[in-house]
Amino acid sequence: MSTLSQRHLLGIKNITRKDIELIFETADTFKEVINRPIKRVPSLRDVTIANIFFENSTRTRLSFELAEKRLSADVVNFSASTSSVKKGETLLDTVNNILAMKVDMVVMRHASVGAPHFLSKHIKANIVNAGDGTHEHPTQALLDAYSIRERLGSVEGKKVAIIGDILHSRVALSNIFALQKLGAKVMVCGPPTLLPKFISSLGVQVELDVKKALEWCDVANVLRIQLERQQIKYFPSLREYSLYYGINKKMLDNLKKQIVIMHPGPINRGVELTSDAADAQQSVILDQVENGVAIRMAVLYLLAGATS
Ligand code: CP
Repeated sequence: MSTLSQRHLLGIKNITRKDIELIFETADTFKEVINRPIKRVPSLRDVTIANIFFENSTRTRLSFELAEKRLSADVVNFSASTSSVKKGETLLDTVNNILAMKVDMVVMRHASVGAPHFLSKHIKANIVNAGDGTHEHPTQALLDAYSIRERLGSVEGKKVAIIGDILHSRVALSNIFALQKLGAKVMVCGPPTLLPKFISSLGVQVELDVKKALEWCDVANVLRIQLERQQIKYFPSLREYSLYYGINKKMLDNLKKQIVIMHPGPINRGVELTSDAADAQQSVILDQVENGVAIRMAVLYLLAGATS
């Protein structure tokens, strides 16, 4: 069996194009499985996976849990808000206590950059980063690139504009790494205050005018404003942000070609995307969610193979 070059999935930065292509080929098989009347395969029978979420999540958490159940793994869920973390237990103690119950793999979301990387140096279980602060969200980038491949045939040579709050977005960084490894051209677009100073050093184009970004791209991956990570004001008001950077269906209809609209969710309707744009025929937002289950099945299956 082919395996990944790493025993953890901590980010896209440290995996190879070959790893990504292997994940996509494996996800193709699992996508067929999850569209069957009986959606379960025995691939991870006797493997126990803990989903450890220290931050809120709808899509990622449910998608991992479904992926694990579709692979017949045993699943335990941990939510920091209802745990002994509230009584002062450390991250390492929390995870070591969970591992003492014979857990093989850990899927973790944490508000602190590098939390899964820290854990990977201290525990034996395979770790999947389900989002660490403003750093990386590798499975989101994989499912995004997989959705582009599905809609446009390949990622190679495609122009992808990532539009919105780039500064606070782990999705943006993981997408840049994944898309570039697969041969896409990447642009970032947003207000100057929401673009990190280092961004040009990643080899992306930078555009401040959203209309020009839409004219340039084949795919627009639209991100929400992450108010929960903003300690200061980066723009005067959400209304003003929407006026200058919000995307509506009329703007899409005025383009010379039809572009693909993506969003990792959760959408703030009426801020970064109007409902008629989010729900347009060219939107693949719910395809991204469906593909997330197949991608996460592929990642867990391949990492489990790396263990044995
Ligand atoms: N895309 C994403 O990570 O969504 P959740 O925060 O709901 O998991």
